[in-house]
Amino acid sequence: MGGDALTLPKDLLDFSGYGAQAIRELIALADRLKRERYRGEDLKGKVLALLFEKPSLRTRTTLEVAMVHLGGHAVYLDQKQVGIGEREPVKDVAKNLERFVEGIAARVYRHGTVAALARHARIPVINALSDRAHPLQALADLLTLKEVFGGWEGLEVAWVGDGNNVLNSLLEVAPLVGLRVRVATPKGYEPDPALLEKAKAYFTHDPKEAAFGAHALYTDVWTSMGQEAEREKRLKDFRGFQVNGELLSLLHPEGIFLHCLPAHYGEETTEEAVHGPKSRVFDQAENRLHTAKAVLLTLLK
Ligand code: CP
Ligand code: NVA
Repeated sequence: MGGDALTLPKDLLDFSGYGAQAIRELIALADRLKRERYRGEDLKGKVLALLFEKPSLRTRTTLEVAMVHLGGHAVYLDQKQVGIGEREPVKDVAKNLERFVEGIAARVYRHGTVAALARHARIPVINALSDRAHPLQALADLLTLKEVFGGWEGLEVAWVGDGNNVLNSLLEVAPLVGLRVRVATPKGYEPDPALLEKAKAYFTHDPKEAAFGAHALYTDVWTSMGQEAEREKRLKDFRGFQVNGELLSLLHPEGIFLHCLPAHYGEETTEEAVHGPKSRVFDQAENRLHTAKAVLLTLLK
């Protein structure tokens, strides 16, 4: 299966170094892999280490299943066992793993940890979520939007909620494909202004203004992994930012609801919204598998 002509940077930490062509080709490959329900031996004998400091359903499972579908294997290493930066310095973990496996996917608290792994390991390193970015999620988001709307040019995606890692990756990738992003966060939870600027995103503190006429409404938890101590404060600060039937009714008639999951029902969204007719949330989750396959096929081959 293709991917041969496509050359990407060694690592996927965020989208720096990724051009419009690379993103389009990655999504086209994911789309093809999905339609063919692809199984192959492209990564036969290759092993991906999953180095996870935080829990995961989608990211871990899709990366493991993707490796199986491509003929390879994954080995899951949790923080309790490895103690990255605690039992052993990040640099030494990188210098060991590069001798054992063909790639590393790391889910970390500090972006600097995954960046250091990439710096010190000669093998590809994939960011499986850091405090700064979640590039694998953004690729699945793009595939989902393409499936529903046929493309990205001129689509308006409204992000309502926290200016977090998932939004950062969406903002990074949006200008590469012509996607327009509107962002509504409470005061004090704005994303990096440089990212907003680069994406030419529209910014407001009013969720309704962002949602009105948008093709997609996207949200994520108000309290990300690692921010649990701030939960009570966040619940107060994010009041009025819930995605519910009322907010969804403001969308474009064909408008859809996206959520990267896991969802905290009663907080950033209602259960009805996630399971309702406008939701594409579970297609979005499925697309994590197909986009992970495209990334692994290209980076590890
Ligand atoms: N969306 C996502 O990354 O889910 P997990 O935290 O379950 O991997
Ligand atoms: N922003 C969330 C995303 C989870 C997939 C977190 O970092 O916990």
